[in-house]
Amino acid sequence: MRTKIVAGNWKMNNDKKGTAALIGALQQNGNSTARVIIAPAFTHLAQSVALTADTFLEVAAQNMHQETSGAFTGEIAAPMLQSIGVRTVILGHSERRTYFNETDAALAEKVKTALDYDMEIIYCFGEVLEDRKANRHFEVVKEQLATALFSCSAQQWSKIILAYEPVWAIGTGETASPEQAQEMHAFIRQLIAEQYSATLAEEVSILYGGSVKPANAADLFQQTDVDGGLIGGAALKAEDFLAIAKAL
Ligand code: 13P
Repeated sequence: MRTKIVAGNWKMNNDKKGTAALIGALQQNGNSTARVIIAPAFTHLAQSVALTADTFLEVAAQNMHQETSGAFTGEIAAPMLQSIGVRTVILGHSERRTYFNETDAALAEKVKTALDYDMEIIYCFGEVLEDRKANRHFEVVKEQLATALFSCSAQQWSKIILAYEPVWAIGTGETASPEQAQEMHAFIRQLIAEQYSATLAEEVSILYGGSVKPANAADLFQQTDVDGGLIGGAALKAEDFLAIAKAL
């Protein structure tokens, strides 16, 4: 059985006080049988780990560097995350790809390092609008997954969660329809089945991300191959994030 997951990517939002307040509100009002993950800013990860200890919430980082130490000013390494109790990292977010020039090749290195350090990865990928309009979205997604993930062993896949985030749906209010999400998720599962095995494909959790809100979450999560969501804007309001988690 694959795991149901709702993850909140807080992006560059919430200071120290705001982080504590949001975690407090989530804890007070929620609980879940699904995994519920939050990804606050680097500066508040240690604080978040402490605040969520023994609760239903888990903490992830939004990024990490592929090297494990050295002269990389401003960067954060896997052993640093591990040393404060962070075991999950989001990699490949479209904002990292667009604004910080992260390529599939660089992401392949990040994936390798994360797995070497036994970290769990939420791997983001998805096509831009032009790709979808040109009917190239399947091809693009296949390429993104193949370059960064298909050299991983079947065993390593137990540490990989996929997050399909069509770029045109991120922060735009325009969600992929449940049918579009299902079609892509089924395609991804088929790719994994071909590359590895049908058993492995069945076990991988594939999240959808892109303007998920309380109003559309249930319809998306009802799809056979949608195992949860990676939530941006709506993860910043406890009430909305918890409503989305409940829709799973
Ligand atoms: P929105 O939910 O704000 O569209 O963001 C999605 C996202 O980028 C999650 O990583």
